[in-house]
Amino acid sequence: TRADALPYDLSGVRMVISAGGTREALDPVRYLGNHSSGKQGYALARAASQRGARVTLVSGATSDPGEPASVEIVHVDSAREMQSEMTTRAADADVVIMAAAVADFRPTAVAGAKIKKGDDGPSPIHLDTNPDILAGLVADRAQGRIPRSTVIVGFAAETGDADGGVLDHGRAKLRRKGCDLLVVNAVGGGKAFGTEDNTGWLLTADGRETGLPFGSKTLMASRILDEVAALVPDGQV
Ligand code: CTP
Ligand code: CA
Repeated sequence: TRADALPYDLSGVRMVISAGGTREALDPVRYLGNHSSGKQGYALARAASQRGARVTLVSGATSDPGEPASVEIVHVDSAREMQSEMTTRAADADVVIMAAAVADFRPTAVAGAKIKKGDDGPSPIHLDTNPDILAGLVADRAQGRIPRSTVIVGFAAETGDADGGVLDHGRAKLRRKGCDLLVVNAVGGGKAFGTEDNTGWLLTADGRETGLPFGSKTLMASRILDEVAALVPDGQV
């Protein structure tokens, strides 16, 4: 099996990984964005490449995560650009990982010129819902537009709330998204965004749940890739 062949257990596996945050334009100089640093997705790309995978990184906005060697990097801004790149590239991938923080909404209209302050005060920003890239990839696979054997991985950053704990939200999201593996990060209280360390669970569609002890994003990446390697069908490459 692959696990016996470490450290090159992902030799020849074609992997497409999204990372960073999307930016949704308001006008030529402004956007709606988020605090994603891109560090987890970049750490995954670096670790996968070191284990022999052929990696393409589709990167939104990041805060200097350092460019991994031997990885093809495609830069995108908006969720719709990211969707287009991910969908095209997933068609010949063995593994697709959505580590990006995709904006759920985008401004309905993008002003062609810089919005001026004017005399009347601010006007409201109207929003449309962005496409769900991950759910779209799962649907594409079900409809045969990407190979049935492609392993699809999602991420979820969750806090507990009145409806349930982090793990409850993670389980519900795994079912809703229909991916094979969901990486659930516990966030809030300064955890995860922009920090060096993560904590959480790996949930698989077949019901396995593995705790991720507190550790670096590099360590987290290697734990995630162990699980991915186990999901890639033998003889795939
Ligand atoms: N995702 C995506 N496209 C979107 C939103 C999210 O592909 N428009 C992906 C993320 O990259 C991540 C997973 O879906 O892998 C879960 O993202 P998350 O924001 O936690 O889920 P949502 O479905 O947007 O639910 P909510 O934000 O309401 O919790
Ligand atoms: Ca979201």
